[in-house]
Amino acid sequence: MKGSHRHLWLWAVTILAAVAVAAVQVPETVTLDKAKNKQAPVVMPHKVHADKYACDTCHHTQKGLTAEATEVKPCASCHLDPEKPETPSMREMSLSKNPFHKLCIDCHKKEAKGPTKCAECHKK
Ligand code: HEC
Ligand code: HEC
Ligand code: HEC
Ligand code: HEC
Repeated sequence: MKGSHRHLWLWAVTILAAVAVAAVQVPETVTLDKAKNKQAPVVMPHKVHADKYACDTCHHTQKGLTAEATEVKPCASCHLDPEKPETPSMREMSLSKNPFHKLCIDCHKKEAKGPTKCAECHKK
């Protein structure tokens, strides 16, 4: 009995170590530049946000996401050329339709903090 418990314990340690090694690097900043030929790229101080809000506030398809995750899906994988017309498209320039404009500006307005004007995000 004792021997098999020790065995389980070893397995648990091995698995935890493997997870730690495979965890993604949570970026300090991210540069959103898929539309760079139209608009200046947007640099987002990612860590400032990730320290303050739950990860799934923005990574909304990965509920309960933490820094131990092994995979984080880029927004563009679903929002650049969405399969379904009801999924907001990154090709939209509108402030009410572009998924970044919606998410980022809505929160900055709500919090009365963070940029809300074009040139404050799209810095030339
Ligand atoms: C809070 C930050 C923020 C503000 C404020 C903002 N944007 Fe953006 N916008 C973004 C982000 C992030 C993207 C995605 C950029 C990318 O992928 O290159 C984007 C994308 C765009 C695009 C590209 C869409 C396309 O056609 O492919 C246009 C055009 C644009 N914004 C115009 C504007 C204009 C005009 C304003 C002001 C009325 C504005 N933005 C305000 C963050 C912002
Ligand atoms: C305020 C919104 C927001 C919050 C909160 C946030 N992120 Fe992000 N994160 C982003 C955006 C936007 C990107 C850029 C995605 C892209 O390039 O399409 C990103 C990118 C990432 C990437 C890089 C993905 C890649 O493949 O390049 C990782 C990893 C990540 N986030 C993990 C986290 C973790 C873990 C948390 C919580 C501790 C978190 N994020 C909180 C918005 C956020
Ligand atoms: C696996 C695919 C997938 C990924 C990855 C993804 N989204 Fe979405 N997103 C969707 C779909 C589908 C919808 C429309 C249905 C819904 O609201 O859930 C949506 C809706 C949204 C909306 C509109 C919500 C509303 O209230 O109208 C915003 C804003 C948004 N996504 C931003 C983001 C951002 C920013 C990222 C990256 C940090 C991201 N999404 C990553 C699939 C995805
Ligand atoms: C859930 C709320 C929330 C969301 C979503 C959010 N932000 Fe912010 N953002 C904030 C707050 C709050 C601040 C002010 C931080 C501070 O000064 O402590 C901020 C500050 C910023 C700043 C200025 C940072 C500085 O050092 O002055 C930039 C740039 C920014 N956000 C970009 C973005 C972009 C781009 C997105 C969307 C991809 C986004 N934010 C989404 C809440 C949010």
